[in-house]
Amino acid sequence: MRELVARDLETARLRTLSLTELDEPELLRQHDPLMSPLVWDLAHIGQQEELWLLRGGDARVAGLLRPDVDQLYDAFKHRRADRPLLPLLPPVQARSFCLEVRGRVLDALDAADDEQLFTFGMVVQHEQQHDETMLATLQLRQGAPLLGAGDPLPVGRGARLTADDGRSGNDVRSRAGAVDSCLVPAGEFVLGVEAADEPFSLDNERPAHVVDVPAFRIARFPVTNGQWKAFVADGGYDQPRWWSARGWQHRVQSGLHAPMSWRPDGSRVRFGVVEDVPDDEPVQHVSWFEAEAFAGWAGARLPTEVEWEKACAWDPAAGRRRRWPWGADDVTPSRANLGGSALRPAPVGAYPSGASAYGVEQLVGDVWEWTSSRFEPWPGFAPMVYDTYSAPFFGGDFRVLRGGSWAVAPSTVRPSFRNWDLPIRRQIFTGLRLAWDA
Ligand code: AVJ
Ligand code: FE
Repeated sequence: MRELVARDLETARLRTLSLTELDEPELLRQHDPLMSPLVWDLAHIGQQEELWLLRGGDARVAGLLRPDVDQLYDAFKHRRADRPLLPLLPPVQARSFCLEVRGRVLDALDAADDEQLFTFGMVVQHEQQHDETMLATLQLRQGAPLLGAGDPLPVGRGARLTADDGRSGNDVRSRAGAVDSCLVPAGEFVLGVEAADEPFSLDNERPAHVVDVPAFRIARFPVTNGQWKAFVADGGYDQPRWWSARGWQHRVQSGLHAPMSWRPDGSRVRFGVVEDVPDDEPVQHVSWFEAEAFAGWAGARLPTEVEWEKACAWDPAAGRRRRWPWGADDVTPSRANLGGSALRPAPVGAYPSGASAYGVEQLVGDVWEWTSSRFEPWPGFAPMVYDTYSAPFFGGDFRVLRGGSWAVAPSTVRPSFRNWDLPIRRQIFTGLRLAWDA
């Protein structure tokens, strides 16, 4: 496990450094008020690593930075909108601070006992989460492309998925076309995980507990751009009947008429590159309010996060959870689109060997999937060492997202992993999957 942690620390750092290999103005600029300047994320990664691994999580313990500089990287002290005005470390100093911390952390890893390894794994996940955040910042950035087109992905098998003919026994008729779905019969399953089985699971994924879930159907694939175009063409953004009262108010106030980054001529901007919107790719950059309206229009609903996790992890024949939807084998490029190098979701049908026991595909990777659930603790929740990671957000207006996007590292997602955001947010790589009562 120690070797795994050392490798994951290295992988995360290479990614952080490559995402911040930009000139000073790019790193210092605030590309959008929703996001920090990239140089804040960079130094915050090092500051959190030092806090949790070298300062025992106690900000009163002296660290490498002066206290007045150290506190600039406390996310609870400064709102993102205010961060560009702070006297942040310049990029060169931010990089050397991260390097100095990392050297000491690798020494500490050698000396750590098994129980301390969790905290190292937690810090890896924190860095990888900020790497994804930096990609969301770069998607909001205006200007010539910086990242290239992205690595190749497997081809999809999506032609029939949105066709109105060729109905199979699993198709649900919908305004979105014939939607291929999987039945998850009623019954109990184990929701959540234990540290013994998933040593790097975070506090909000625990404890494992049995829940009974009524039968439901869930779409085999995430909702595609092609299906979303049908919603737009059918006046989905113009008809309040598909929207909740709050959703409609937001849709009018913010002037929403398509997913973020779509242009009126049918193209989209992806990391500065203008291209056609591919019909068979999962839709991304939609808010929870838009996802809710789409599902209503399609004659469906969003899955609850409990339904989502059962469809992803439960093996009904074995009567136990799988580590991944497909089983115990590690993530490979033929099972899921993770790690961030693709810079986009894969077309639907690209990962038949990534299917869950119920036949549901592309649950892990591609796009974060909005669920209907609010972010609340599982019964018996106990905070981890980073005790303000989850708890301050319970009971708020946050909706749960599942499965991870293409920008997520394999070490930072599991079938039990829970992400959350406000229902108006769409700057992260969010899509959805439909569900129905059975
Ligand atoms: C779990 C993605 C909601 O980015 O706000 C990073 C992760 N927490 N640093 C966030 C996180 C502290 C968190 N999310
Ligand atoms: Fe953070």
